[in-house]
Amino acid sequence: MSNPIGGTVTLRSGVRMPRIGLGVFRAGAGAATRDSVRAALDCGYRHVDTAAIYRNETEVGEAIRAWCDETGGHRAEVFVTTKLWNDDHGYDEALRAYERSERALGIGPLDLYLLHWPVPERRLESWRALERLRVEGRCRSIGVSNFTTRHLEELARRSETLPDVNQVELHPFLAQRELVATCQRLGIQPVAYSPLAKGRLFGDPVLSAVARRLGATPAQVMLGWCLEQGHVILPKSTNPGRIAENLAAFALKLDAEALARLDACDRGVRTAWDPTEVP
Ligand code: A2P
Repeated sequence: MSNPIGGTVTLRSGVRMPRIGLGVFRAGAGAATRDSVRAALDCGYRHVDTAAIYRNETEVGEAIRAWCDETGGHRAEVFVTTKLWNDDHGYDEALRAYERSERALGIGPLDLYLLHWPVPERRLESWRALERLRVEGRCRSIGVSNFTTRHLEELARRSETLPDVNQVELHPFLAQRELVATCQRLGIQPVAYSPLAKGRLFGDPVLSAVARRLGATPAQVMLGWCLEQGHVILPKSTNPGRIAENLAAFALKLDAEALARLDACDRGVRTAWDPTEVP
């Protein structure tokens, strides 16, 4: 992989992951997903995050293939993640689900495959299937999503391989400090989904004041804070202007005052699922 805008992090498996990826959850059917992936690739993103349950793996794959054909880009330059949905847990089921996702995307072995949710009683069996996929080289790295500290510690105790990443909701209003510290201790890369809190807090007075002072947008400030924590970020947008605006967050330098004010915004605001009570 050449060096994408914003650079890469190196996962525990040695695989390099671009620090920004386009999220395509609810990007819409057909053309809308294809167009947003294409807009992202054209402006410099080299990482797309989808999932079987988003029902748009086919369109993501089509957009990447078209970009390769039309621009001379290479598949290997784009980091692609997808996820195992809850109905497909179990050892054989997970192997079959991976094959279905790989076929739908149609771009060869995937870069990262995640357990989308810590499904009780079945997650360890599914994790063993993911370990096999990686050992056999059928996907380059494996990880989890929506795992809490307890779920990660269970994996550490009971399986051979730790996940490369844990993808969870992270932004200044949901810093999840204890979980992030656990990830760091175990060598698991935190990946931030909904790093913009789905746009619901752009009007927050502290965020707005920081953005105004730095001449940036609230979205860029939220992304800048995540990058400052060392997170990989997955902002979702279907608008080409906003896709580019989010990539430009790398140019933003948050000073100590901005970071202190944003750190104080943490108040446990979740815009997505809460896995805290999952046994
Ligand atoms: P849109 O797709 O119309 O751009 P998150 O990544 O936290 O889930 O947030 C996604 C939401 O934030 C979407 O509704 C998206 O809308 C909106 N969004 C993404 N980027 C920006 C931006 N730079 N400015 C304003 N809204 C944005």
